[in-house]
Amino acid sequence: MPTIEQVRDVLATINDPELHRSIVELGMVKQIDVAVPHVTVDLALTIPGCPLKAFFQEVLPAKIQASFPEITQVTVNLGAMTDEERKALVGGVKSESPSSFAGPQSRTTVLAVGSGKGGVGKSTLTANLAAALAKRGHSVGLLDADIWGFSSSRMLGTSAKPTVIDERLIVPVEAYGFKMISMGNLVEDDRPVVMRGPMLHKILQSFLSDVHWEEPDYLLIDMPPGTGDISLSLSQFVPGCSIILVTTPQQAAEKVAERAGHMAGKVGMKVAGVIENMSYALCDHCGERTHPFGTGGGKELAETFGAPLLGQIPLDPPMGELADHGKPSVVVSPDSPSAKAFEEVTAALVELIPPKPKSRPKISLPIIMSPSAPAHSG
Ligand SMILES: Nc1ncnc2c1ncn2[C@@H]1O[C@H](COP(=O)(O)OP(=O)(O)O)[C@@H](O)[C@H]1O
Ligand SMILES: [Mg+2]
Repeated sequence: MPTIEQVRDVLATINDPELHRSIVELGMVKQIDVAVPHVTVDLALTIPGCPLKAFFQEVLPAKIQASFPEITQVTVNLGAMTDEERKALVGGVKSESPSSFAGPQSRTTVLAVGSGKGGVGKSTLTANLAAALAKRGHSVGLLDADIWGFSSSRMLGTSAKPTVIDERLIVPVEAYGFKMISMGNLVEDDRPVVMRGPMLHKILQSFLSDVHWEEPDYLLIDMPPGTGDISLSLSQFVPGCSIILVTTPQQAAEKVAERAGHMAGKVGMKVAGVIENMSYALCDHCGERTHPFGTGGGKELAETFGAPLLGQIPLDPPMGELADHGKPSVVVSPDSPSAKAFEEVTAALVELIPPKPKSRPKISLPIIMSPSAPAHSG
């Protein structure tokens, strides 16, 4: 007959699907009773009404029965954690993988994508870069720092609301193989968000430190238009952050991007590279390139900062359409001219800034078990 310890060892191999930690480590397994052929497990969910109920009801019995042939019946009583248990869990998870990208120990490369000006394609680029990096097997986070004018959630078709535990742990939303967070995932019905500077600062801080990013290889930050507040805040939270400047070929856009680059330099951010968007149009019939927005902006910007021009993205109207329907072109239309250009830019970016090695020692979480407080079923 399996012992309680043996059953617990089996349960320890099951991860919470959102936090990616063992349910035993997370303190979710409250009580185990073994009376062959029956095992009963009291499981405390992180939040009441957790959407993962069905997952646990299926996976726990399956795992236990597969491990112990004499067990033919498994009852899972689902309850919810108490406030104290939730606080302990959040504290444990946060101390193990601090989402602070500030210190030299952080293995995440944080890249802001900025341009100074709106409408040049920052959000489109960020979404496609994130998807292209994920396609290449990198772990990626996308943080929409355009708190007021958020658009990433729409461009990536994620209207899902993230799970928030104890107000301090936000499980990011999944999109096309990467994790993301945007105000669009938090507010109702695209209602406008009225916010002052300090509030933006706080939200950015929360997006950086409360979201369970789990140290991705790359964290891309979709910057708002303008050069001010958010750059300053970002440089304070993530001192090693670099910026990728986006411009169109026009002089006017280039000059604004230049100001954004200088501003970034003032707050200690390095210009990692330049991407020129809407560089040229391709004739549908003969494939000839035309330059409706002129030429030279990207090259000039790159020279100004001594940074590489990572690539040029063509004007691709269907891509805009796709983005409006939540579909990045690199995923849904990989043969399109824009998708190919994004792939090239992504390859150049990874070559320029390869992911940092994953060599941090794993610290284990304290095991929070309180068998004296059995979870109530529900
Ligand atoms: N290369 C491109 N070809 C066609 N449309 C584009 C291209 N890049 C961006 N767009 C469109 O331009 C608009 C502005 O892009 P967006 O990414 O929101 O800019 P920003 O974030 O800089 O304000 C969007 O409608 C987008 O679909
Ligand atoms: Mg934008």
